[in-house]
Amino acid sequence: MNNLLTKHKLDQKSRIVKFQNNLLGWYDKNKRALPWRTEPSLYKTVVSEFMLQQTRVSTVLPYFRNWIETFPDFKILAKSKEEKVLKNWEGLGYYSRARNLHKLSNIVCSWDPISKEIKDWQALPGVGPYISAAITSISFSQSRAVCDGNVVRVLTRIFANSTKFKDGATAQKKLQPLAQTLINGERPGDYNQAIMELGATICHRQSPLCTICPVLSFCVTGQRGDSENFPAILKKKKVKQNIERFWIEYPHGLLLQKAEKNSKRMPGIYELPKSDKFSLFRKRNLITRKKRTIGLVDYCESIYKASIEKKNIEKNGSFKWIQWENIDKVTISGPHRKWIKEIRNSNF
Ligand code: ADE
Repeated sequence: MNNLLTKHKLDQKSRIVKFQNNLLGWYDKNKRALPWRTEPSLYKTVVSEFMLQQTRVSTVLPYFRNWIETFPDFKILAKSKEEKVLKNWEGLGYYSRARNLHKLSNIVCSWDPISKEIKDWQALPGVGPYISAAITSISFSQSRAVCDGNVVRVLTRIFANSTKFKDGATAQKKLQPLAQTLINGERPGDYNQAIMELGATICHRQSPLCTICPVLSFCVTGQRGDSENFPAILKKKKVKQNIERFWIEYPHGLLLQKAEKNSKRMPGIYELPKSDKFSLFRKRNLITRKKRTIGLVDYCESIYKASIEKKNIEKNGSFKWIQWENIDKVTISGPHRKWIKEIRNSNF
C-alpha cells in the first residue's frame, strides 16, 4: 500500500469504501449540470477534456456549446479545415490543443472499432496521462485515476502531505499512485469527476469550505484547520519581458502579422505586428501599454501608432493588411482582438 496510507484513516479497504461512498453520494446530489455531463458521449468527453486543460469551466462553457453546434462529431471535425477549427477556438488560448484535437479526430475516425485501451489513447496527439485517464474512465469505465491540480490539492490536504514539490506537474506525477489506490472500480468515471469537482467547488485553494466537505472526517488538515498550507509547491521565478507593437491603420483596415508556421505558441494566428531584429517601422506616439502573464513570463506590451514603407511589408511575408470588414473572419489571439476593438473605439 502507498506510503502515505500507513498511519492514516484510509489504511483499510473498508474505510476507503466509506470514503468513496461519501464522495460519490455528494457528487450525485451536487454535481454541476454541465453540458458534457447531461447527455454524455465519447466525443463530448474528449472535446470538454481538451478545453478544460488549463482553463476554467465558466470560460469553457460558451466555447463548448458553439463547438458542438459547429462540429457535432469526430467525422465532421476531422473533415473541417484547420482555419475553421482555429477560428472556433479563438480566445480559448493554447491553440495547440485545437490542432491536436483536430488531428486526433482524424485518427479516431480511422479506428474500427474505437479503442477502449488507455495505451492507444495515450499515443494520440495532445493526450497525456491526465486526458487518457479522464477519457477512458468516463467513456469506457477503465479504472485509471486522474491526478490534476484539483486532485493534488484534495489529496495533499487529506493526507497532510507536506512534500515540497518542484512544480505542479511533478506533484501530479508523484501523487498518481495514491490517487489510484482510492479510485472506485465500479464507477471510475464518476469517481474521477467527483474528486475533481470537490477540488473545484469545495476544496478551494483559499478559504476551502471544510464544514460542508463530504470527506472532512478523512481529512487530516481539514480537521486541524490548516488546509490552505497544502499543497507545498515551489514557486518558479517569473521573468519580465517588454514588447513593442505597432498600430498601422489605413483607411479601410489594419496591418496584422501572422505567427510563423513553426511558431510554438500559435502558428497561423494573427496579432498586432511587433518589431523584430531590424526596425521596419516608423514609430510615432504611444497609444497604450498592456500587461499580461503567460506561464512564467510577465509581458508589458507597448502599442505605438506607426507607419511602414510598402517595400518593407513586401519583404516580410507574415504581414497582411486586413480590411475592417474582414476583421471578424480572421483568427486573432483573444487579447489582441480585445485591444484592437478598444483602440479602434478610442480617440487616441
Ligand atoms: N476538470 C476537468 N475535467 C473535469 C470533469 N470532467 N469534471 C470536473 N472537473 C473537471
